[in-house]
Amino acid sequence: MTEDYKRYWLKEAIIYSLDIRSYKDRNNDGLGDLKGLLSKLDYLVDLGINCLWLVPFYCSNDHDGGYDVIDYYEVDPKLGDLEEFKLLVQKAKSQNIKIVIDLVVNHTSKEHPWFLEAKNTQSPYRNYYIWMKEKPANDRDDVVFKTVEDSNWEYCEEAKSYYYHTFYKHQPDLNVANPAVQEEILNIINFWMKTGVAGFRIDAVPHILKNKGEERFQGDPYDVIDIWKEAILAHDKEAILIGEADVEPEDYPKFFNKGKKINGLFNFFLNNYLFLAMAEHCAKPLKKAFERLPFPGYHGQYLNFIRNHDELDLERLTVEERARVFEVFAPCPFMRIYDRGIRRRFPPMVNNNLARVKLAMSFLLSLPGSPVIRYGEEIGMGDDLRLPERESVRTTMQWDTSINGGFSAVDPNDLRWDVINDEVYGYQSINVANQQENTTSVLQQVKKMISTRKEQLALNYGIFKILETNHPQVMVYLYSLANEHVLVAHNLSYGEEHVQVSESFNTNKFHVLLGDAEIDLTASQQLILIMPAYSYCWLSFTT
Ligand code: NOJ
Repeated sequence: MTEDYKRYWLKEAIIYSLDIRSYKDRNNDGLGDLKGLLSKLDYLVDLGINCLWLVPFYCSNDHDGGYDVIDYYEVDPKLGDLEEFKLLVQKAKSQNIKIVIDLVVNHTSKEHPWFLEAKNTQSPYRNYYIWMKEKPANDRDDVVFKTVEDSNWEYCEEAKSYYYHTFYKHQPDLNVANPAVQEEILNIINFWMKTGVAGFRIDAVPHILKNKGEERFQGDPYDVIDIWKEAILAHDKEAILIGEADVEPEDYPKFFNKGKKINGLFNFFLNNYLFLAMAEHCAKPLKKAFERLPFPGYHGQYLNFIRNHDELDLERLTVEERARVFEVFAPCPFMRIYDRGIRRRFPPMVNNNLARVKLAMSFLLSLPGSPVIRYGEEIGMGDDLRLPERESVRTTMQWDTSINGGFSAVDPNDLRWDVINDEVYGYQSINVANQQENTTSVLQQVKKMISTRKEQLALNYGIFKILETNHPQVMVYLYSLANEHVLVAHNLSYGEEHVQVSESFNTNKFHVLLGDAEIDLTASQQLILIMPAYSYCWLSFTT
């Protein structure tokens, strides 16, 4: 590391995302809770993560995984209370874990008091939402859940008008162009920043910034993010905004705006091309993706992920590319969703081939950007496709072989969340306790990747370069930070491959950090890697 290099926590973040409801039930009422999560903090510390992203835990109608908020200022009483939340933030902080929470302000639940009031034309809350007397002709321009909703406009009998919704019809969109709504959002931001959180994941950010119906932002809609940024920084100068923006990569820079706006963006684009590469056993899609991916600059950071709590949304691929991923990873229609995504976790997509599961985790922990691990990914958890929509990938965390996989001690009939209980993916076979004891387990490998990533600052701050090879199925990249280098190779092929890297290295001292490739050098100092099927290898060297 060069001396003038400035450390920045988001660059070194290893983010873990979870839903309190499905993680650990402490009061044995069949639903996860804050106390349960608190009891698992040591596990997260041991795993090595340093940032926790919690999906919404506010009062909600539970019709969209908590993204249908009824009260922005209350913890859902089923999960705990504000004092417990503050305790969690404090305890996590003392263990060097920052907490990021969801800012869900594109919409509310239709049960939110603002919406109930807004049905009255005379109410001061009327303009908190977007209304029209007549449904416009192009009424489905921005329908997200295409196979579930058929319009962006829903008629409200009491209001005698149509209201706009981007997502489910039970989630009316807020009129963020309205200064009064902007004021409310600032209040929400200030309230939660006071609890000590490290920032927000802004839900559906491109949708928030759209002009909808007849409502228009005054000035550039993106400026509202500057205001939110200033607000969080006033509480904590290290606080961050990260954003869910599934847009074309050419649009990423306007969200980053040289550090003024969003600090981190989930890299949906790279995620899609990683899936294409894995489906086709070929490095080319990933290499091509990097040709289009803008460099975010020092203040911007990509957030990489394999799967999240939603469907694997393949919208960034072309129709043909998407069809190829569907064919391989979701061959049956019931595995697909909303005409554009897959509602499976990754291990079932590869028939529980653990080499492929570890390969994906190695990509996640080594691609440029900060990794976001979805709970259960570290043990290779599966899904339950009998559950509706995206609930298939939201089953409870599998801790051990005790009743309900250690999630809850309640009678299984009284569970309020789904536990996987089958031979292959059930808690009896896949759980934390088993894997803690097994050095080759997914969990142990992921832990090693995390600790290695933390030691090798080149992976966070180094200059990234894709290296050419003589093999289309092997992806090799290099990070260089002054004279320290980390080279990472992934063999996407189902056979052992010998690959020669087309670069001459000014060293013959390679240190194997991870993986089981054999290494050799040609007379002209070119690296030769002999890589088992679906294997990865991380090497370090100095020059
Ligand atoms: C994105 C969230 O990730 C998803 O779960 C939710 O359904 C929509 N936003 C609507 O809030």
